[in-house]
Parts: sequence; C-alpha cells; structure tokens
Amino acid sequence: MKILGISGSPRSDGNTSAYIQMVLDEMAERGAEVELIRLAGKNLRGCTGCYQCIEAKKCVIEDDFQAIFQSIIEADGLLLGSPVYHSSITAELKAVLDRAGFSGRWAMNEMKEKDSAYTWKGTVFSDKVVAPITVARRAGQNFTFAQLLLWATANDCIVVGNNYWNVGVAGKGGAFDAEADTEGVGIMKGLAERMYTLLKTMGK
Ligand SMILES: Cc1cc2nc3c(=O)[nH]c(=O)nc-3n(C[C@H](O)[C@H](O)[C@H](O)COP(=O)(O)O)c2cc1C
Repeated sequence: MKILGISGSPRSDGNTSAYIQMVLDEMAERGAEVELIRLAGKNLRGCTGCYQCIEAKKCVIEDDFQAIFQSIIEADGLLLGSPVYHSSITAELKAVLDRAGFSGRWAMNEMKEKDSAYTWKGTVFSDKVVAPITVARRAGQNFTFAQLLLWATANDCIVVGNNYWNVGVAGKGGAFDAEADTEGVGIMKGLAERMYTLLKTMGK
C-alpha cells in the first residue's frame, strides 16, 4: 500500500506538511509505504492550455511536475494538502492539479468530435483513494476543501470520509503550530485509520 502526501504550501516544513506527516506516520505504523512531496521551492509552472497532452499522452512541459506525476501514478492513496490562501488552494498545488488532471485524462482517452458523447476509459487516477487536507488560520477552509474534492470527484478517484472535515487550524502570524490544534491532530489520526481500512478492503 503506497500513500503519497502532497503539500501545496510554499513553506517546506509548515503546518500543512505537519498535518500530512501525521497521517503518513500513522499509516506507516500500519505498514504502508509513505512519501511526502513538498511543492515548496519546486520549479512548477501552471498549465499553458497547449492541449499537446491529448496527442503526447503526457504533459509536455519539462519541469519538476514530471517526477511528481510519476509518484502520483504509483500511489494507491493520495493526501492532497494545502494551506488556505485567500480562501483557495495555493498556486503551486493548482498548477500540479491542473496539469495532472488534464494529462492524466488524455493519457487514457482520445479526443473525439466536439459534440460526441464520451465513453471515458477512466483516468490514471481511477480508483485511487483521495483525501483533502486544508489548513487555515481562520477562514476559507470549506471553499478550499471543496476545490480539492471537486478535483478528486472529476478525476475518477474514491474520496475517503472521516468523522469531521480534514482541517487544521494553525498559522496565526505565520506560526508553525500545527501540533497545538489537538482536535486537528485527532482528525488526522482518524483519517489515517479510515484511509488504511478502505485501501485494505480494496485489497491493497
Ligand atoms: C498569502 C496568504 C494568504 C492567506 N490566506 C488565508 C485565508 O484566506 N484564510 C486563513 O484563514 N488563513 C490564510 N492564510 C494563513 C495560512 O493559511 C496559515 O498560516 C497556514 O497555517 C499556513 O500553512 P503552511 O505553514 O503550511 O504554509 C494566508 C497566508 C498567506 C501567506
């Protein structure tokens, strides 16, 4: 069972990485193979809308995205984490999700006539188990969480639930204080348990 966490924070060891790591640690204890990719400092540009992935079956922009995408493909479970930036995911994570979502779809499908009904053959993310994690000082969790849910549900992923939304409250004045949100810590432990159980049920 391979679990990949992606932290969209531009702060490498910030609160988002900390909450994701809590889930990964719990899953590693249960025997999962885990990896955390921090988007901080990576060379990543946004989707250029070139549509070349339809023919190329991959994103043709050569930067750090390519290695990240390979790790996504190899993972059974994906933790998509972002700090809330103006009520949204960060630009770094948006760049990855736009490029992964588009090229991951066209890697498995052909473009048809504009008006024809599609019979999709899935995406490279089909049946991956996904959980959003968002972190905010105060406001914007729901919108940011929904952005990640919308990405997962349009890309043929299976979203795992929890006993609360996977949110952490941290970072007032830029503080690195994820651990102080004890409720958030408990939520991450609950998420690990549920994601592990679901993946085991799926035979991973
Ligand atoms: C540019 C910017 C925009 C932010 N926007 C919000 C916001 O809309 N709502 C909020 O509650 N916190 C906001 N924050 C605070 C961060 O979400 C918070 O500090 C978080 O813990 C940072 O996570 P990190 O340590 O993983 O980077 C913002 C921070 C920055 C730098």
